[in-house]
Amino acid sequence: MIVGVLGAGTMGSGIVQVAAQNGHDVVLVDLNEQILSKSREQLKKIMNRLVEKERVSEKEAIQIQQRITYSKDVHDFADCGIVIEAILENLEIKSKVFTQLEQITGNDCILASNTSSLSIASIGAVLEDSEKIIGIHFFNPAPLMPLVEIIPAVQTSADTVVRAKALIDGWGKVTVECKDTPGFIVNRVARPFYGEALRIYEEGVADFATIDWAMTSIGGFRMGPFTLMDYIGNDVNYTVTETVFAAFYYDPRYKPSFTQKRHSEAGYFGRKSGRGYYDYAEDAIKNSPNEDPVLGKQIFERILVMLVNEAVDALFLNIGSKEAIDLAMTKGVNYPKGLLSWADELGLDNVLSKLEELFHEYGEDRYRPSPLLRRMVMKGEKFFE
Ligand code: NAI
Repeated sequence: MIVGVLGAGTMGSGIVQVAAQNGHDVVLVDLNEQILSKSREQLKKIMNRLVEKERVSEKEAIQIQQRITYSKDVHDFADCGIVIEAILENLEIKSKVFTQLEQITGNDCILASNTSSLSIASIGAVLEDSEKIIGIHFFNPAPLMPLVEIIPAVQTSADTVVRAKALIDGWGKVTVECKDTPGFIVNRVARPFYGEALRIYEEGVADFATIDWAMTSIGGFRMGPFTLMDYIGNDVNYTVTETVFAAFYYDPRYKPSFTQKRHSEAGYFGRKSGRGYYDYAEDAIKNSPNEDPVLGKQIFERILVMLVNEAVDALFLNIGSKEAIDLAMTKGVNYPKGLLSWADELGLDNVLSKLEELFHEYGEDRYRPSPLLRRMVMKGEKFFE
């Protein structure tokens, strides 16, 4: 099957690599000639590196690159069995593009979007046959991150879901099916990792370095929240937070932070601008964390119970199965454990009492425990046996 990818930016280029490495002929279309050549050059570099590391043979590397057709013309998608769209995050532009894609491609062609924050239903609404729309959400970098969220819209047919999932599973990815709701699984459940860390900082409990230290050294996370936000970019991360907050009808659980907004306004985006929560200049003085174990544990537990609560609530609202929710966080954002398994380990009663403590102390809806958590504690249940 020929795979079409629209948009040769960060995500599109990664998806093309994965498809070509899995033996597909691929058509990559972008409006911008320079971006197309950059994408081609980058793949060449990646392939050379993989050859050096003996992960692929020289012959394979050439074959992979030869499978890709670079084009500026969407009509080259005519023979594709699927087109995955990865252009900029704008519903108006995506809508125009999908109308065009439906006219160009055959009746059986799946039309997929890699959107992070738009609803799949709204993108599919422009199609005459909206049963062929689906969300296929890769994580950055697409060739390295195993997780792919598969998001059927209300219009999507069961056949489209089965075919899309089979294709992506066949690429060796870990797929999880999730509901077409803001942030899908990963970008919803992960909100407190940033939000609660920022809140702890704003309350003056600890500085960035100490919070990061607590989450990595005590929590076992690969990166602390501030290091991670600096890596993602505060502008990007802030926008996602704002979008999710609005999309949830301003549920206070997802409220953005002034600290992040100000950092973003100041141009302190993170690594890409040389300064974020940390200074990335070569001669910058690094702040040492306050490695007080009691304080560290307090920070880690507060963020963890908020993450667990979000995961439990996602299960409560059927955003994904319990297996999907745990896989999503370990395979999409490298969490050391699935949050629901982690909750079992901590004891659901302990998680609930910590949340109730926070809820009583602050009187804020942000800390309200999920009804499912209460119900399970009452019944003495666990997520996994
Ligand atoms: P990007 O800005 O790197 O690339 C977008 C590309 O689309 C550009 O090369 C641009 O020339 C091209 N483009 C714009 N309009 C076009 C059109 N009408 N026809 C053809 N090409 C067009 O963006 P990125 O980061 O790759 O994101 C793409 C999509 O993937 C967005 O929907 C984003 O929300 C989503 N996404 C991004 C992730 C990330 O970490 N960057 C992760 C997962 C999803």
